[in-house]
Amino acid sequence: MIHTKLPKIWYGGDYNPEQWDSAVMEEDLRMFKLAGIDVATINVFSWALSQPDEDTYQFEWLDDVIEKLHANGTYVCLATSTGAHPAWMARKYPDVLRVDFEGRKRKFGARHNSCPNSPTYRKYAERIADRLAERYKDHPAVLIWHVSNEYGGYCYCDNCAAAFRTWLQARYATLDEVNRVWNTKFWGHTFYDWEEIVPPNALSEEPGENRTFFQGISLDYRRFMSDSLLDCYKLEYNALKRHTPYLPVTTNMMGLYKPLNYFKWAPYLDVISWDNYPALDTPTSLTAMCHDLMRGLKAGQPFMLMEQTPSQQNWQKYNSLKRPGVMRLWSYQAVARGADTVMFFQLRRSIGACEKYHGAVIEHVGHEHTRVFRECAQVGRELEKLSDLLLDTRVAARAAIVFDWENWWAIELSSGPTVALKYVNEVHKYYDALFQQGIAADLIAPDHDVSGYDIVIAPVMYMVKEGFAEKVEAFVQNGGTFLTTFFSGIVDENDLVTLGGYPGKLRKLLGIWVEEIDALFPDQSNQIQLTQPFGGLQGSYECGLLCDLLHAEGAEVKAVYGSDFYQGMPALTVNRFGSGQAWYVASSPEPAFLQELLGELCREKGITAPVSPVEGVEVTVRHAADGEAFIFLLNHNNHEAAVALDALAGTDLLTDERLEGEVKLAPKGVIIMKKERLS
Ligand code: GLA
Ligand code: ZN
Repeated sequence: MIHTKLPKIWYGGDYNPEQWDSAVMEEDLRMFKLAGIDVATINVFSWALSQPDEDTYQFEWLDDVIEKLHANGTYVCLATSTGAHPAWMARKYPDVLRVDFEGRKRKFGARHNSCPNSPTYRKYAERIADRLAERYKDHPAVLIWHVSNEYGGYCYCDNCAAAFRTWLQARYATLDEVNRVWNTKFWGHTFYDWEEIVPPNALSEEPGENRTFFQGISLDYRRFMSDSLLDCYKLEYNALKRHTPYLPVTTNMMGLYKPLNYFKWAPYLDVISWDNYPALDTPTSLTAMCHDLMRGLKAGQPFMLMEQTPSQQNWQKYNSLKRPGVMRLWSYQAVARGADTVMFFQLRRSIGACEKYHGAVIEHVGHEHTRVFRECAQVGRELEKLSDLLLDTRVAARAAIVFDWENWWAIELSSGPTVALKYVNEVHKYYDALFQQGIAADLIAPDHDVSGYDIVIAPVMYMVKEGFAEKVEAFVQNGGTFLTTFFSGIVDENDLVTLGGYPGKLRKLLGIWVEEIDALFPDQSNQIQLTQPFGGLQGSYECGLLCDLLHAEGAEVKAVYGSDFYQGMPALTVNRFGSGQAWYVASSPEPAFLQELLGELCREKGITAPVSPVEGVEVTVRHAADGEAFIFLLNHNNHEAAVALDALAGTDLLTDERLEGEVKLAPKGVIIMKKERLS
């Protein structure tokens, strides 16, 4: 629980008063009040300002900013400013500069630009975090620490190469073991000395982004880089905690950000926070999935929406405005899925450099008489009204979808069977099938306990790590429903193929043997034909991408392929195992198929949506520990929508209206209904 000092949904965002004179800040503070803004994230990119040279720290400007915010009643999310190193540091200590994928040594410029294994970067990043914590530890305005900013990117410099070798020694102990797990007898890569190992990039094993000749080293380099950046975070975390064990610490994540294994990071964050930047055409369910993934990082704990734009981005190709009502709707979407803060990038638009056309609560005109400000102020008033009611309430899901960053890396580093296989797309198809029916799902790590779920779905579980198969077998044995897909159970955690027939360690559970895997051209398809109707499934459905050619070995064949030389071979199977079921979907089907299939599996388990699904209306429930339940209805349509509450009734927290029977949602409308308890 991060909300002790300010027990409501925090409302605010990134704020850079150092770019302005004090008269402007006075105006900003006035407008924050008007908009109900109570938190400012400051000091995100001010390292150079606070540390003009190696020995000097000057925090007076920050003292002043914090004092003014505090006097205004605005709390502070205090960043450590290490997301961009100062120019003097790059000049004096070039080890802070990264070497890029092409092998080029970078010069000073841009941000998120420090080598994570640079001794200079680590030393000074830790030091400034320490100084900040020492200085502001007792300040009543400070709510939380924000370490660095959006950690990301990789480095390929000599310091990283050396650190990689040390990391490998810790993981594998011997060079023989490295040679084994990387299968280095292939193409004569046997290493005889640790020093022979160099980072995999365009100069060595990787002919392009996401392509490699050696999956083993490429996979380990990703693990190592994710760990290296995490080590930088931990250095700062520990420095902060030394002074302020009572203040929560976070760093802002980026949802489906591929380079970092956030599940491995999560234990070191006191609260997950993330930056949500969907485009106008991003599917609603993809944004929902990102929120759920972020919620899943800490097993369902509420998270922070650290950034979103009030109106538009600057870095997309086409930076559409958020249509009237959309910022509000998407803010509540985050809350509906477990966010306990609503925060923006940024509170005031800057005048120079690349983010001057990024949306802000206060736009270049400088006053509050704008559409964007009015919409922000409305949300501000509503969040005040919601007070602490929703804080720390939880989303409860009976279905889980397994998500694994290392599996993602391995699948997309794979040379064959198809370049078109995108892990996130396949996961999203399954998520979307549940989403469209109003059924909640948790996104969980492969080592997460599954015993509390009724249904576990693991799309494209290509990499099956130690212990996973046994855990799922026990889950199914005890009555659970497990579902996985084509191209699963192929390799172990080192990307070495499990011999003896696909899907390897999942074969016994699934009761099948996959003999071959066919890759389809984008314009090719096959069909999944039901052998007999199952639930709402009947007849034939389109499928494509990959088609596994499989034999049932105890599993029941529910559907077969409709064409090609493998016409009639199984395309959908179910194996009864103990008192549960293990399903295998052998190709990538059209959405209608997945909706019917998952709908039926949920029905069998008695999992239903809180209200009957209405197209374009998102529904979630947050539960309080004391038994209260809050039902969110979010109308993503451009037209009014009617939702039948059936036996439900309650009060709309935003309007105090009593709701029962059929409720009408305005276009982009939101209802947060406190459910009436049955007496
Ligand atoms: C990211 C960063 C911010 C800002 C926004 C712009 O989320 O953390 O500093 O650059 O993007 O959308
Ligand atoms: Zn480096």
